[in-house]
Amino acid sequence: MIYAPHLPRLGTFEAWRTAARALASNDIPADQVEWMMEGGQTGLFAQDGAALPAPRDISVPSGFVQLARQVCASRAEGAHELLYRVLLRCRGNAALLSNRADPDIARLEELAKNIRRDMHKMKAFVRFRDVSKPGANRRQFLSWFEPDHRIEELIGGFFQRRFGDMDWVIVTPEVTMRFEGGDLSFEAVASERLDLSDETEELWKTYYANIFNPARLKIKAMQSEMPKKYWKNLPEADLIPGLIANAEARVAQMQAHAPTLPPLRAERILDRLPDRDAARDIHACKRCPLSAAATQAVGGEGPQDAMIMVVGEQPGDTEDLSGRPFVGPAGQLFDRLAEEAGFDRAAAYVTNAVKHFKFQPRGKRRIHQNPNTSEIEACRVWLTAEIDAVQPALLIALGGSAAQALTGDGSRITARRGRVEKGLDGRPVLVTIHPSAILRAGPSAGLEEHLRADLRRATEMCAALQAAGVDGVNR
Ligand code: URA
Repeated sequence: MIYAPHLPRLGTFEAWRTAARALASNDIPADQVEWMMEGGQTGLFAQDGAALPAPRDISVPSGFVQLARQVCASRAEGAHELLYRVLLRCRGNAALLSNRADPDIARLEELAKNIRRDMHKMKAFVRFRDVSKPGANRRQFLSWFEPDHRIEELIGGFFQRRFGDMDWVIVTPEVTMRFEGGDLSFEAVASERLDLSDETEELWKTYYANIFNPARLKIKAMQSEMPKKYWKNLPEADLIPGLIANAEARVAQMQAHAPTLPPLRAERILDRLPDRDAARDIHACKRCPLSAAATQAVGGEGPQDAMIMVVGEQPGDTEDLSGRPFVGPAGQLFDRLAEEAGFDRAAAYVTNAVKHFKFQPRGKRRIHQNPNTSEIEACRVWLTAEIDAVQPALLIALGGSAAQALTGDGSRITARRGRVEKGLDGRPVLVTIHPSAILRAGPSAGLEEHLRADLRRATEMCAALQAAGVDGVNR
């Protein structure tokens, strides 16, 4: 007698588990089962597969379910059969699963590893295009991706957590995953490759071309981490052959223009500007009236070769007294959210658009005031000096004043938050909310996740570049 359980394209694992439980609990041997993937070929006998017997309880070793969930997504020939055979074999032999010398277990592990690799690639190479409609209260994004295996349901939760603050659709050749208004859904529909392009793509390409460092090019590592089959969906991919072809010439050019002294590892760039005459000394700055009341100018801090520069508004009360950026309450909130988002503050250069504290005295207290446009303009010279020295691949603007200083656009943050905009010098600027705004709104406003999500995104953008063999910035 042949049993032929049907496995649907969605809910494959659950269907496999229900059928496997019924079959195994009735001791049906593996060679009497022909697993039928929906839409797959029907075997000789399977058309009239016998009805499944009633299930009874079975127990499986811990670890099997997790392995089975992954392997069920595999397109490899015989994956479901192998899984069932191992299920039968590991009843009463809990140690079997950890025996890597067993050929069934070795193969099962290999299949699971391929699934995890496929998921890793999807996490790294999904590129969202902004398709937001004017006036929509959530931003909307669309992406096309072709996974090797049937991993959509395994990976949906990752994208839901990572991009929970926007609506998105990821289309694969067989499944459409939708995240709308906080609900994740899957639909098994056949789709053709989407031809997606938008202005963010141009910006991303400019960014990629700018941060591509020919001296650090490792073609083998780049191709193993970013195999060619993913290139067709990556906006930057059509630049890669040209960048590789020119790499040698560009390295020669960089060597010809190399500085004669090793680069400074200055932590306080503005304190080390080459000529500390009055015009170049930030501590003597009188470009605007703010210096009169502030204790001192507060410059940025961080590695001089940081890939990311975080720009706030201006020092607050604590920063004005200590002379260091983001060490007061807003800085502490930033540090906590950064840590939760996996963003390494110590690896970033952290500074402000305006270097002096602007406040109004009220009794013993000094009440923060937003800098105006002329103060932001007057201070741009210092911010520009920092950007020139650090050459970050990505700038993060915390709040409106920073966004104005970096992009020239002083419009409200609410509509811009989470967007990558083009900075005044062409560098990408990720616009996000200021931690002080989160403190003012209070925890019930739920704004923390916005900053966390944007910091995660910044980390991912840099990780994607590093994965592509780009681990630094041209200098
Ligand atoms: N707010 C800022 O924008 N910068 C700081 O350094 C501190 C608070």
